[in-house]
Amino acid sequence: MQEPEYNVPRPFVRHFDATVCNLFPDVDKKSFKILDVAAGTGLLGLELNKLGYQNIDALDMSQEMLNRAKNKKVYTKLICTAITDQRMNGIETAEYDALTCSSAVCAGQVQPGAFAKMLNFVKPGGLLCFNISFLEEKNYDGKFKELEEAGQWRLLKKERIPFLLEKQLEECYLYIYEGQRKVPS
Ligand SMILES: C[S@@+](CC[C@H](N)C(=O)[O-])C[C@H]1O[C@@H](n2cnc3c(N)ncnc32)[C@H](O)[C@@H]1O
Repeated sequence: MQEPEYNVPRPFVRHFDATVCNLFPDVDKKSFKILDVAAGTGLLGLELNKLGYQNIDALDMSQEMLNRAKNKKVYTKLICTAITDQRMNGIETAEYDALTCSSAVCAGQVQPGAFAKMLNFVKPGGLLCFNISFLEEKNYDGKFKELEEAGQWRLLKKERIPFLLEKQLEECYLYIYEGQRKVPS
């Protein structure tokens, strides 16, 4: 029997693109600036590019992964660093129109404390789009609510999308948040 394929990027990007086009009907996808956090080998960037996005930077803590992402020829800049709750060099406040993060919001990877920092990278009203497994969600829920109650972001979309877990085809949640509308300090 054929093994199921890793299948998050396509539905992830489809929802992301629908939200972008809905919120910004006159969007110029060629210049719409995206930071793909935990980009890995660049599969998400590749799907974004197929839909016309051409201004995408990749961030990953593994240089080896970034080397593979570079081969996809869809990223402008490759940033080798770990996203944590600490201040980071190399990224300007409010530099991006949107931030994407596929299949890395989980224990040992992108932690709850990193979300406040990631919010700083997007412009006022910019988007944060990521997926999370049903099991992991409870570990992040408190932080998501805290940021919402503090007016730092607003939930635009929460959808179930397919997700491959230990070779089993499952589902996960895809979240799309809109960052606060004032410039982050
Ligand atoms: C499961 S892969 C997902 C890759 C890609 N987003 C995709 O969907 O194909 C997870 C990636 O996240 C990176 N990663 C994990 N935690 C990270 C962190 N805190 N900061 C930056 N990169 C991280 C790993 O190096 C790895 O390349």
